[in-house]
Amino acid sequence: MCGIVGYIGHRETAKVLIEGLKRLEYRGYDSAGIAIFHQGKVEIRRKEGKLSKLEELIGGETFDGKVGIGHTRWATHGRPSDENAHPHKAGRVAVVHNGIIENYLSLKEILKSKGHVFTSETDTEIISHLIDEFAQEGYSPLEAVRIALDQIKGSYALGILFEGDEECLIAARKESPLVIGLGDKEYFIASDVPPVLPYTRDFIFMDDGEVALLSSKGVKVFNTKGEEVSKEPKRVNWNSLMAEKGGYKHFMLKEIFEQPRAVIDTIRGRLSKEKGDAVLEGVRFAPTVLENMRRINLIACGTSYHAALVGKFLIEAFCRIPVDADIGSEFRYRNPIIGKNDLFVAISQSGETADTLAALREARRKGATTLAICNVVESSLAREADHVIYTHAGPEIGVASTKTFSTQLVILFLLALRMGRALGVLSCEGGKTLIEELVRIPHLMEEMLKTSSQVAKIARKYLQARDFLYLGRGINYPIALEGALKLKEISYVHAEGYPAGEMKHGPIALIDREMPVVVLATQNDVYEKVISNIEEVKAREGKIIALASTSDREIVQKVDDVIFIPETLPSLTPILLTIPLQLLAYYTADFKGTDVDQPRNLAKSVTVE
Ligand code: F6R
Repeated sequence: MCGIVGYIGHRETAKVLIEGLKRLEYRGYDSAGIAIFHQGKVEIRRKEGKLSKLEELIGGETFDGKVGIGHTRWATHGRPSDENAHPHKAGRVAVVHNGIIENYLSLKEILKSKGHVFTSETDTEIISHLIDEFAQEGYSPLEAVRIALDQIKGSYALGILFEGDEECLIAARKESPLVIGLGDKEYFIASDVPPVLPYTRDFIFMDDGEVALLSSKGVKVFNTKGEEVSKEPKRVNWNSLMAEKGGYKHFMLKEIFEQPRAVIDTIRGRLSKEKGDAVLEGVRFAPTVLENMRRINLIACGTSYHAALVGKFLIEAFCRIPVDADIGSEFRYRNPIIGKNDLFVAISQSGETADTLAALREARRKGATTLAICNVVESSLAREADHVIYTHAGPEIGVASTKTFSTQLVILFLLALRMGRALGVLSCEGGKTLIEELVRIPHLMEEMLKTSSQVAKIARKYLQARDFLYLGRGINYPIALEGALKLKEISYVHAEGYPAGEMKHGPIALIDREMPVVVLATQNDVYEKVISNIEEVKAREGKIIALASTSDREIVQKVDDVIFIPETLPSLTPILLTIPLQLLAYYTADFKGTDVDQPRNLAKSVTVE
């Protein structure tokens, strides 16, 4: 949901800002802009559309200033347009903003009555006016920002410039992510670390309510009371190459192919083969927590929610504790029954998804023990939960989640194993068998990636289809949901994921010879039932693309296309099934010519409700 960057230093500022925005475009891409000093004045260039439109607008123009801010937008208040694009400037003050100002209408009325004139429909514009109002009253930039923020309700990550003060870049954060990069006599702000990685790996992670003053001399951070606080810089172990395409046509394709590596990195150091157990450094439950645990809630949104659904199967199977999997935006609005003997697990790639964060806060308020499964280090979710386990997938730039999904599945498998062992439900031998299979998974994923050209042919064959149905049962059902989500979000083809047994209660009416049905039909205890579902589709002339176990040669007679999945435990099969479904969505989108990495209307990190 919008990305912001800021820079103060010796480099060509416009270039640093534009390059930074390119690495944040996954957060929003309906307009972009920069504010930059030139000959002592703050110049603004902003444009509706993708960043390339802004680049065209700037053309060969140069700016002599050493400080600037930039923004890439995902519209919330006001449609995408040049006027609504950030930065917004009032008087001396230019602002870029990620978040939502809830009381902007009342503040706008007050400011209008004082003579302020507004030129956009955004909530952000009031921030620049409000700060300018206090600056005009004689407050210093830092004081003006602090007093203005006191009056604002809502969420924000802000970058602020003051015309007339080239030694001042102010950053502020509340409930929207913001990091400060510490270079050599140069400093950066950004919504996420990738824009800053080419210059430094040392970061300060701002906390809610903090305001930072960046000058060429260094960075000072202040708490809500205005007192300077000392913040420990942290070194991030991602590098800048990880956030580049590396020869692939799209980030999504690169990230699909990175999955075996991501899984190896996620497993590394987390297995105790002799004990048949997992080692989860971020989870140190007090013994009483496990003893008293009555129920587990897994909460997430979108793709991460599909991981949660798989997690429910894994934890119930390995631990015999009831598990609810719930959608972040639904959880807190039904006054959830959750108490101090429950474990609440929030799953999120970004760790900034507003609905998941709000659910976590609700669970904490009600006394549950909380655990976050995140990819982004030091994200809000990771910092607010009692315990955290990181997926080590590396930066994911494609808007559609791929490698973070497979690594979430791995972490949930490890969590289920650890808890199953701790509760004594799983024996040491049982644990060892699970580990032996888990370590084979990256190799089997490599095998799955070799189906890429076969999947591309299937995508081509069904390119004209307007709807797809994805069917799965048991632990494979969430993968049917995920396959359908991938297809719709990047290729804009309508797709439904359905539990195969439920098909006869409605969706079967959709089936005709035009309808491709993707059936997850690997060997497990519901295999025979899935075969019956295949017969039902066939009887109605539906086209079947089956994902079946390698040993299942008979299925070839029953279906139109088949992709073979190497044999492994049913509890690990979802990881393998995911890959051809990601590829099917990818190739369908690529052949249709859609914008695979930045699908319309979407943003990677949904930091608004
Ligand atoms: C789909 C996708 C989204 C995210 C969802 C949650 O490909 O990426 O559905 O999974 O917005 O995001 P995180 O995991 O960051 O909380």
